[in-house]
Amino acid sequence: MTVRYTHCVTQPHPSQPEPSQPEPGKQPGSPFVRACRGEPVPYTPVWFMRQAGRSLPEYHRVREGIAMLESCTRPELVTEITLQPLRRYDVDAAILFSDIVVPLRAIGVDVDIKPGVGPVVERPFRTASDVERLRPLEPGDVPYISEAVKSLVGELGGKPLIGFAGAPFTLASYLIEGGPSKNHDRTRAMMYGNPELWHALMGRLAGIATTFLQVQAEAGASAVQLFDSWAGVVSPEDYRHAILPHTSRIFSALAGSGVPRIHFGVGTGELLGLLGEAGADVVGVDWRIPLDEAARRVGAGAGGKGGKGGKGKALQGNLDPAVLLAGWDVVEPRARAILDQAKGLNGHIFNLGHGVPPETDPDILARLTDLVHEVSAAAA
Ligand code: CP3
Repeated sequence: MTVRYTHCVTQPHPSQPEPSQPEPGKQPGSPFVRACRGEPVPYTPVWFMRQAGRSLPEYHRVREGIAMLESCTRPELVTEITLQPLRRYDVDAAILFSDIVVPLRAIGVDVDIKPGVGPVVERPFRTASDVERLRPLEPGDVPYISEAVKSLVGELGGKPLIGFAGAPFTLASYLIEGGPSKNHDRTRAMMYGNPELWHALMGRLAGIATTFLQVQAEAGASAVQLFDSWAGVVSPEDYRHAILPHTSRIFSALAGSGVPRIHFGVGTGELLGLLGEAGADVVGVDWRIPLDEAARRVGAGAGGKGGKGGKGKALQGNLDPAVLLAGWDVVEPRARAILDQAKGLNGHIFNLGHGVPPETDPDILARLTDLVHEVSAAAA
């Protein structure tokens, strides 16, 4: 194992000089950013959703006695946890350690993260007066985010940092249901039954997500990912009317930041074209659809017929996270198959179809990272 980054929480890092690239922190020449833009790469870049966190024993050690949302407000701890997976894996990007509910908590929403459960909201959102509780996010509400991103850009050298936010639908689900939900019934009920309230809520959440992403891009993040993890529960027709206008607004607002924008959801096979239409540069794909079929749906194939403006979009994905638990003999052929399906895409970033399961053996991810690099470099 190569130890590349020696930063440690017990050694506060001095303020960093700006890197020498023309756009500090944006890493336009990195394989990850190039693949996001559909430019040629020497090998397929790879990172893993939830690469930091519960699958790593060193994460459990530094988090001991510190609540999840509290840990997200400590830049030194955020820096350390973000870098932990990079000491184990030769991944092509880091993702900021934070959570989608951090900006909600920052504006005073009574949300907490219960260990083993997820985000829980004390007073769920049901009425217009609940929506009034969502004031706009100001950059000054999340100083620890800018500070953590700046510290990480210094630590990462040439490696890109991905910033992220929760998309309006996924955030709305936690607010309306009051916690994690299997079917998101109350959320869809509000969407169908009270469009005015729905759009008011979604509009405010879109504003919050936009500011949260802009703060990260301005502090030096090289790319941003919008997680609409639970959007797969709606039909394409409802997605178009009830969700797309709000996600489109977020991606348009980020266009000027110059960083690639990634759009991801789970179970979104039927929505892939719409996820691309919302304006992202890269569409994340879960494991239910092979990448070549996903490319047809997004209009992402070489030559890029589909997508807005006729430009093809890159794809990110899509190994089933459960494959990681089935042993290396299962991981290897499936990873090779994904690289095969990705041939001819207008940009591919290897990833899982969703987050790393907590029980994952980190050595499997280390081997997988190297395999993706070796196999794709040989084919390039
Ligand atoms: O490495 C990374 O990917 C960055 C870290 C990250 C976290 N949350 C840290 C976290 C990211 C990208 C998120 C985003 C997030 N949070 C999403 C979108 C991504 C996805 O998985 O679809 C969602 C839906 C959430 C909401 C949320 N927060 C859930 C479902 C959970 C898990 C609850 C549990 O314990 O099973 C959380 C808590 C959370 N966020 C943890 C971490 C490391 C675990 C908390 C802990 O360690 O105690």
